[in-house]
Amino acid sequence: MQKVRIGILGFGNRGYSFVVPLLTEPFSAQAEIIAVCDPNELKLDFARGSLQACPQVHYCREISALLAQHPDVVFVTTPQFAHASCAIAALEAGCDVFLEKPMARSSAECRAIIAAEKRSGRRVFMGFNLRFNPVCAKTLELIAGGRIGRVQQMVCTDYYSGGFSYFRRWHRLRANSGGLTVEKGCHSIDQLNSYAGSIPVRVAAFGGLDRFKPDPEGSDYCSNCGKAGTCPYYMDMAKAEETTRITTGIDGIVVNGGEKLDLCVFNSDKDTNDNITIIIEYENSVRASLVECFTSSCQATTGRQFIINGWNGQIWTELKDRKIQVFDNAPGQPALSPEIPAIPAGSGRHGGADNQMLEYVISTIAHDRPNLDMLTRDGYYAVAVAEAAERSVEEGRMIEIEKL
Ligand SMILES: NC(=O)c1ccc[n+]([C@@H]2O[C@H](COP(=O)([O-])OP(=O)(O)OC[C@H]3O[C@@H](n4cnc5c(N)ncnc54)[C@H](O)[C@@H]3O)[C@@H](O)[C@H]2O)c1
Repeated sequence: MQKVRIGILGFGNRGYSFVVPLLTEPFSAQAEIIAVCDPNELKLDFARGSLQACPQVHYCREISALLAQHPDVVFVTTPQFAHASCAIAALEAGCDVFLEKPMARSSAECRAIIAAEKRSGRRVFMGFNLRFNPVCAKTLELIAGGRIGRVQQMVCTDYYSGGFSYFRRWHRLRANSGGLTVEKGCHSIDQLNSYAGSIPVRVAAFGGLDRFKPDPEGSDYCSNCGKAGTCPYYMDMAKAEETTRITTGIDGIVVNGGEKLDLCVFNSDKDTNDNITIIIEYENSVRASLVECFTSSCQATTGRQFIINGWNGQIWTELKDRKIQVFDNAPGQPALSPEIPAIPAGSGRHGGADNQMLEYVISTIAHDRPNLDMLTRDGYYAVAVAEAAERSVEEGRMIEIEKL
């Protein structure tokens, strides 16, 4: 069988993250990277260094040059300001697309990608790796298997320890990311959408920029700020690893040798929220609430929990500890149900989710099977809920998804 030929578009944090798995068994036997495109020459240099073992790789700064290499699939790992234009160009060139989350900055851009997907007849694999997280996959299996009966209500809390870093990178401007609810919240929203087993119809939200407001006592950069010992968000550039500086510090907008990575999270220009609380109602009358906090510092623990109330019981999940508890709504049940034993993390990043996702994408293309699981429809509804939530905060009213 011929190897699946992969072109990587955007060689930053995420694009680079696929290199090690793709150069390792079993993926190295099934797929090969044939081209890398990034407008930033420093990133291309980094790619050349990372892919020394692959003489076939073509390096370029323009998407047209990458598409001229005829990859089977284009991995779109650019910031989402380029997702729609890049995905549409790749589809029009006859390629399949692996599209990082969020699908795009807005529901309108998502609709344009879906239209191009239909026109081209090619496959777009929507990159929600959280779906492949073993705890999330097991939770969906329990729900689909009827373990707690009909789902009625859900709660998700998401505290990301790296949330603060968005305020020194491109994510902090809506023109780039669509806002942090789109950027990060899309993961949890997609999970809630899949657990609800329905489509979201109405959204209401409260949120704001409360923590990362300008600090007159701070400076523009950590490197020239006197708060080194006291600021929980202080970044010591001298201690940042070279790889971190290169993969995350330079991003096509902030082209400054990576030094802007220590931009002050308080004094940076920004137009997104640093916290948001969302309520979603689904067509089948399931209701969900989601709390997203982006102010956790690197010292805090990342945590994402889901509680799913069904008519016959509840599921409590904690992704950090990879634990699931199931409670039955029945007389004589113990107050605490036995936990499902901690689910082992798989190999690779994000608790093994990234490798599971790669396996799905590569084997689907290699065997020319239809893509049944990583759907643009799901990418659209995740962005639509996030966009509706941000609009609800701005306009102080409930937003109907249909009217976006
Ligand atoms: N699923 C996950 O777990 C996960 C994790 C991190 C990031 N992401 C997503 O991956 C995407 C990239 O994020 P990142 O953290 O890697 O950002 P990044 O800034 O580290 O890297 C983005 C790269 O894309 C390049 N780029 C910009 N415009 C381009 C264009 N038109 N063509 C080609 N390259 C272009 C930039 O120069 C940069 O090298 C985002 O959409 C982000 O939300 C997903």
